[in-house]
Formats: sequence, structure tokens, C-alpha cells
Amino acid sequence: MFNADISKTAFPADFTWGVATSAFQIEGAADTDGKGPSIWDDFCRVPGVIADASDGRQACEHYQRWADDLDLVASLGVDAYRFSISWPRVQALGSGAFNEAGFAFYERLVDGMLARGLKPFLTLNHWDLPSALQAKGGWENRDTVPCFVDYACEVARRLGDRVASICTHNEPWVIAVLGHESGIFAPGIKSRAAAIQVAHHLFLSHGLALTAMRAQGCKADMGIVLNLSPIDAATDSAADQAAARRADGAGLRWYVEPLLKGEYPADVLQDLGADAPRVLPGDMGNIKVPLDFLGVNYYMRSVVSAGEPWDIKTGGNEITDMGWEVYPQGLTELLVRLHRDYTLPPIFITENGAAFQDEVLDRQVHDGQRQRYIARHIAATLEAMRQGVRVDGYFVWSLLDNFEWSSGYAKRFGIVRVDYDTQQRMLKDSALWYRDFLDRQRAQHGVQATSALEI
Ligand code: FCB
Repeated sequence: MFNADISKTAFPADFTWGVATSAFQIEGAADTDGKGPSIWDDFCRVPGVIADASDGRQACEHYQRWADDLDLVASLGVDAYRFSISWPRVQALGSGAFNEAGFAFYERLVDGMLARGLKPFLTLNHWDLPSALQAKGGWENRDTVPCFVDYACEVARRLGDRVASICTHNEPWVIAVLGHESGIFAPGIKSRAAAIQVAHHLFLSHGLALTAMRAQGCKADMGIVLNLSPIDAATDSAADQAAARRADGAGLRWYVEPLLKGEYPADVLQDLGADAPRVLPGDMGNIKVPLDFLGVNYYMRSVVSAGEPWDIKTGGNEITDMGWEVYPQGLTELLVRLHRDYTLPPIFITENGAAFQDEVLDRQVHDGQRQRYIARHIAATLEAMRQGVRVDGYFVWSLLDNFEWSSGYAKRFGIVRVDYDTQQRMLKDSALWYRDFLDRQRAQHGVQATSALEI
């Protein structure tokens, strides 16, 4: 399924094609030009938490190499580039003085995108909270909410006239659950009650930030990005079905419903018992503000069983280097289900991609598995559109190989290979395929190919 040849299929002419990155994973320059530390700078220093004991100090040196990297983006012929702002780079302590040098970097970056005909898709929080705020409790502390709103307003004031899109938070589930319940991501806290409170503060800060940025007159499209998976029960047994219902509640409905319906799902609240969040009067109304878009990051489905954990090999599907099942039809199922159950704003697939080992031969990088993964998920997106879902764009994760959080640099998601010894970039076969695919899209719409910059 979904290995159909999509080369001859035309997406809508105004569909947005892009590639995505995030600040901490590529920038490096961890304490350059007045940048303050983030919780990921701190977390990387904890022994044993990063698989290869690496950190983000150098990463892809994007802070220095941004202009070449934007040339690379433009050479692919995409419409848009999704990037994130490092909060502590533009406000070292997360409150108080803003850092002019930090803002100057993002002004150069955004102007550089516009000069190359790329639409900037800006994310405010891709996880790198200023350490100074964590010292006061971070996202668990309600006082972080107004700090985020101030930061968002300052970014919107300086860049809001030039970016196409502003996303408040990338994947609140990851920040809440991986950061505060399992503790495998920064800040490494292990408490379900904390995770639930963190999610609430993320939602609240999202809604208040949108309202405040709009009140300032910022015209960029505004929304949020969620990581979502369809949840399948391993068997038809009542126990597995109940486990799937709980997992769907905690992983999907808990994140979608406050934003779109202004309420938490009652069954999950009941499951949470004493861990339910502290919600003040007015919060839910402040969370549910109109979204110009909903970003969906999709990598895999989830299969849930009440007993022994489901063995991923059971599905008989290809498995990526992350140990994630390749399951493109899950993306169609997810989108169709969201469309059926909710009144949705336009959807963007803000991340989709895969880690595989590349074969490097004679300055060519063969990554057929990644290329196929991307093609099949684009086909799955199209299938959802055929079934009536409005999807306005698709972004590959990621432009570059980069710092893959607790997996370090060993897991490569880039369609461009990074040689970390020399910082050389090399287009992989998947990048060449994506470029050709986009050229054909333009040709079908009668538009001259624009990927002028050859490398
Ligand atoms: C997502 C993150 C992104 C990247 C991919 C593989 O959860 O948003 O930064 O790590 O996974």
C-alpha cells in the first residue's frame, strides 16, 4: 500500500512544500553572542542520558553556515522552510532583557529566506526552554506562561511582518511526557502529575500568546504543532480495546480537545484521578482560540496491548533505525479520523521523515529507504485529501542530519548528509528525488522550474 507512483499526481497548485529543522538540533553556538543556556544544554551534561554522550554545542554549525544552508533549501525547489527560534538566544534568562545579537541572527535568517523566495514557518518553542526559567520550575510553574507570552509578542513584533506562519509549541506531548513523566528528555523529571500540569501550561500559554500576538496586529498564520498517531489495539480482546481507548485519550484526545473544543476529555480526567491538572476559571476559554492551522507531525502508528507490549515485528513492516514501524496508511487513518471527529482548521504535515543508515559512495549518498518512506507518506497524505481532509502543506523532517535528542548524532534524519568532521553537506538521493518530484509538480501546474541554484 502507498508505493503508488505519485510523480504524475498533481497536488493543488498552492500546496506548500517544505523542509524542517529546529534550533537546538542544528545551530550550535551554544553560548555565542549572549545566548543563555537552555534545558537541553544542561540535560546533555547529565551522564548517560545521550546515547553517544554528545551535545548541541557544535551541532551542524548552522549559526555560522546559515546562508549556505538556505542556498541548499532553495536548491531543492521547496516553497517554505520551517525553523525554530532558540528562546535563550533572544532572551538569555527567559524574562527581562532581550538580546539584540540573537535577534539579529534570526532577522538575517528570515530576510535570507525571503531573498531566496522561501516562506518562513517559525516555531517559538521547539523544547529549548531557558535554564533560568527551569530553575523556577519551568513549564510546571504557571509563571512561565506570561514569560512565554512576552517572548512570543517580542518575536511577533520583530519578525511577524515577514514570516508566513508562527507555531507556538512543537509537540506538547513530548515536552510533557518525555520531559516530565518518563524523564528521558530535558528537563528529566519523572512525575505524571508534573507532566499533566506542564501540558496545561503549554496549552494556556499557546492560547494567550495567539490572542496577544493578534492583538498587536500580527497577521501571520498562527497555530500549534502536535505529534499524533493512530492507536490500534493489538487484538479484539476487551482488555486490549480498553488499553487502546486509554492510550488514545492520553496521547491524542488530551492534546486535541482542549485546543479545538475547550475541554479535557472526561474519561481521561477520570483516569488521572489525583493527577488531574489545576485549571483556573477562564483557562479553557483562553486555550480554545481560533487556529489558522494545525500542524501534525507523523512518524508511526502505535499498537497497544493490555498485557505484554506489542512486538513491532508482528506487523511484518519495515522498521527504521529508530526502531519505528513504517506505516504510511496510519497517516491517512489519522487525518481522516481527525476530520471525522473534529472541526479542523487547515492541516499542515509539519514533520515526516525517517532515520536510516546511508550508503556513502563516491560523493553520492544512497538512501532508498528514506526516499521510499517520504514518497509513501506523501501518497498517504494525498489519499487523506481525496477522502475530504484539507491538508495545505507537507514538510520533510529534516533538511539536515542533526542532533537527534537523546539518540545524539548516530540517528540520521536528513535528506542532506552532514559530515560532522568537516561540516560538509551532501545531497542524498532522497533530496534529489524530492527536488525532482517538486519540479514535476510545478511542470504539471505549468510553472517554470524554479530550483535555480545548482550544487
Ligand atoms: C520529532 C521532533 C523533531 C525530531 C523528530 C525525529 O518528535 O519534533 O525534533 O527529533 O521527532
